[in-house]
Amino acid sequence: MENQVLEIIKKRRSTRIFLDKPIENESIHTIIEAGCYAPSGYNRQPWFFVVISNKEILDKLSVETKQSLKLSNNEHLQEVGNNPNFHVFYNAPTAILVCGDESDSLYTSHCSVATQNMLLAAESLSIGSCWIGVINSFSLDKNNKKLIEEYKEKFKIPNNYKISHAIALGYRKNEIAKASPRKENVYTIIK
Ligand SMILES: Cc1cc2nc3c(=O)[nH]c(=O)nc-3n(C[C@H](O)[C@H](O)[C@H](O)COP(=O)(O)O)c2cc1C
Repeated sequence: MENQVLEIIKKRRSTRIFLDKPIENESIHTIIEAGCYAPSGYNRQPWFFVVISNKEILDKLSVETKQSLKLSNNEHLQEVGNNPNFHVFYNAPTAILVCGDESDSLYTSHCSVATQNMLLAAESLSIGSCWIGVINSFSLDKNNKKLIEEYKEKFKIPNNYKISHAIALGYRKNEIAKASPRKENVYTIIK
């Protein structure tokens, strides 16, 4: 039998088509717990997670992120922002905003390691997920300062914490293809 962790790692694929079916609270708690058990420098655990299962809020965040994408300097991102069919969270029933302590120079690493734990925990529960990096166009956009402050207050995000990225979560509508073959020759083993 294959190693169970490796099996989940290989099975996880980004999901972008979700069923309109809510995720049970217990599963949400398991996913968050997995994030909280990620390693962190000096065990600081400098993360904060906002779980949003409110369609209106997710739609609004999607529209606002697309607005920032439209204003970006990158042609591809502009195209994404202008695509009327694109939803930043792919209409997933739930998204988690992964926030990190800005005063920690490694905050994006900390948010990332917690995120991967959450993606794998979701997979172990047969819940699909997608890492949503584009939301940083929203969180880094200087035009959104006031809006972000309002969200931080509403979502109880600690003062010097910043939204690093997000995770879309939900049950998959379709079976997903196996992962493509991995690149070879990406390591050396020295003895
Ligand atoms: C840092 C990071 C940012 C990402 N941002 C996005 C994103 O904004 N939107 C999206 O659809 N997928 C995003 N992804 C998912 C990648 O596109 C996906 O992981 C990659 O294509 C490999 O496919 P797989 O996850 O199915 O193995 C992101 C992944 C990472 C690690």
